[in-house]
Amino acid sequence: MVYLDNNSTTQVVPSVLQAMELYFIDQFANPSALHNLGSSVSEKIQDIRRLIAERIGCTAEEIIFTSSGSEANNLCLKGYLHANKSKGKHLITTGIEHASILSTSAYLEREGFKVTYLEVDNGGFVDPKALEAAITEETCLISIAHANNEIGTIQPIERLTRIRPDIAFHTDAVQSFLKMDFNVDALGVDLASFSGHKFHAPKGIGFVYKRKGCQLTPQIHGGQQEMHLRSGTENVPYIIGLGKAIEEMSESDLVYMRRLQRELIAKLKTISGVRINGPEDLSKRLCTNVNFSYEALEGEVILNELSSHGIYVSTGSACSSKYSRVSHVLQSINCPTRFIHGNIRVGISKFTTIEEVDTFIVKFKNIIAAHSPFRLVAC
Ligand SMILES: Cc1ncc(COP(=O)(O)O)c(C=O)c1O
Repeated sequence: MVYLDNNSTTQVVPSVLQAMELYFIDQFANPSALHNLGSSVSEKIQDIRRLIAERIGCTAEEIIFTSSGSEANNLCLKGYLHANKSKGKHLITTGIEHASILSTSAYLEREGFKVTYLEVDNGGFVDPKALEAAITEETCLISIAHANNEIGTIQPIERLTRIRPDIAFHTDAVQSFLKMDFNVDALGVDLASFSGHKFHAPKGIGFVYKRKGCQLTPQIHGGQQEMHLRSGTENVPYIIGLGKAIEEMSESDLVYMRRLQRELIAKLKTISGVRINGPEDLSKRLCTNVNFSYEALEGEVILNELSSHGIYVSTGSACSSKYSRVSHVLQSINCPTRFIHGNIRVGISKFTTIEEVDTFIVKFKNIIAAHSPFRLVAC
């Protein structure tokens, strides 16, 4: 198998699984329990909270564990707007956010909030002037993803937050965390969302960064875990796995993934009919993301043929691709119509090899050659 769908999800590695195992069968106590077993588990959760805090430049009390990136996004948007209605009822976001931001925004609109969806340029970038112009007296929250999940565009968050530091700023960092620097003060964000399964932790664990003093209304009520902001017994083994996966991502992994990305893009560019979608300048593109279109074939046809050879990629966003045939992100960046349907996203991980990249290129070339009209004439 050649797995190249790492923007969708990543493999849990044996070391992460091994670290988790103990917390299923031995250290399985409820972290809220008053006995020693409970306290030792609770202390372990605190260790992971401190590890995350150290990575992103905040304090442990500013980290709230959730079940996913989607839950984190819901908590940040609904939680902040519900708690801060007196500041205004206007949310600014972009048209290229993940479904968990767009659907939450639509829900908030139904609740009576006003939402502005900023447009982006052909590389997927938000224009700081457009953000400035969209701000009104009523603006309560701005939510712009750090890196786009389909085309890898890295937004200039530190510039965007400087426009109005007095307005709360949330960033969806699900794709960017551990793939580039992330420091809450350098970026100037008040809220951020993260998800473990994008960096070799299991699916079903995420967290929120909430700056001290920033008010959130909990979205899940119950036993008041997670500083009263997210009730529910903590998913201890998954939090342990999350911590282990964070420890195992290194600077050299990023250099490696960037090299693979550069090589893959260079190879794709030699194929006629291929268009690379998203930023040309790789310093402004997530090192794990390659998104391209082939003008003469449906993305789904390419995906299915690759899949039949054990090569796994996606078309646009995996979450939406079952439901929508056209990517809202490609539409927003004005991808020409002849390219919009032939879309493929390749997601690189630190475990991807150059041989896998080469296998993918060879198979892709075979597929397009097999579908070429010239081949039919020759036959
Ligand atoms: C940018 C972005 N935000 C949020 C999510 C949702 O995260 P989760 O799958 O943990 O709910 C994803 C997942 O694809 C994502 O790519």
